[in-house]
Amino acid sequence: MKILVIGSHGMLGRDLVNRLSNLSDQKNPGNEVIAADREHVDITHGEDASKFIAQIKPDVIVNCAAFSNVDACETQISNAFAVNATGAKNVALAGKQAGAKVIHISTDYVFDGMKNAPYLETDKPHPLSVYGKSKLEGEIAVQETNGNCAIIRTAWLFGPYRKNFVTTMLELGRKNRSVSVVTDQYGSPTYTADLSCAIQTVISRDLQGIYHVTNIGRCSRYEWAQKIFELTGNQVSVLPLKTADYQRAARVPRNSSLNCTKYTTTTGQKMRPWHEALEEYISKSLR
Ligand SMILES: NC(=O)c1ccc[n+]([C@@H]2O[C@H](COP(=O)([O-])OP(=O)(O)OC[C@H]3O[C@@H](n4cnc5c(N)ncnc54)[C@H](OP(=O)(O)O)[C@@H]3O)[C@@H](O)[C@H]2O)c1
Repeated sequence: MKILVIGSHGMLGRDLVNRLSNLSDQKNPGNEVIAADREHVDITHGEDASKFIAQIKPDVIVNCAAFSNVDACETQISNAFAVNATGAKNVALAGKQAGAKVIHISTDYVFDGMKNAPYLETDKPHPLSVYGKSKLEGEIAVQETNGNCAIIRTAWLFGPYRKNFVTTMLELGRKNRSVSVVTDQYGSPTYTADLSCAIQTVISRDLQGIYHVTNIGRCSRYEWAQKIFELTGNQVSVLPLKTADYQRAARVPRNSSLNCTKYTTTTGQKMRPWHEALEEYISKSLR
């Protein structure tokens, strides 16, 4: 099987390419993994995307490319929609033309956070931010364009390949010895290594439709920060802050945790708790 990963220099993309490549060597010598990022193909250009994908002739495309800076999307609106909506559609169409299945990565921020329980795949999205709106438009376009697709919604990613909430907290803690973190935003931190395994499962089981995939359990950003300093042994005070008192460009959901039961019952695979995944990330990548 030939698998093309687009967005391969990103936080998730790099982890996914590593995992799929290792698996190809060990278990599936017939599998070939091709990594592509902006320098190989700009997904906002439909014709370029079609030509590039037609040349590669993949069986499966995993689209990890995104304009993922939530606050920057608020001011760079056309760019956000070009990558997250039009770009997603271009990849889906090019995939259809080449006979490839498309696995599209999306986000918890398609929801408004008003639900008092983890969101199901069947819950109606209602994004609050430009990022969330552009990602939702991308999801819809992918499903309308290429019936052979799976959408994986995930959340609060951390992993070794890019700056993320964990590295930001550690950097702030080193400089200031105390950090203020919001107590009223809840979600599920998710390790890119674990999500990569789940994507591998979605590929091997040939799943279709929308799946929520995060590490299990939920916490506030404040609780996440406390755990980061506890696990790294840093004596940093985490000070509580309300979202209303924290200035940022984008509105974000207060509860964006996702219910992952559909993934678990369909595959028989359970994601591990977020704090176990965090512990492994810290011991493998940050010590
Ligand atoms: N990070 C999170 O917490 C989070 C949470 C929920 C869902 N997600 C979703 O998970 C997926 C992966 O996120 P991530 O954090 O790994 O993102 P990331 O680190 O920002 O990586 C995205 C990659 O896509 C590339 N890219 C951007 N525009 C492109 C274009 N026009 N053509 C080709 N490549 C382009 C980027 O290149 P440049 O660096 O050059 O721009 C980057 O290498 C995304 O779909 C994101 O929406 C992320």
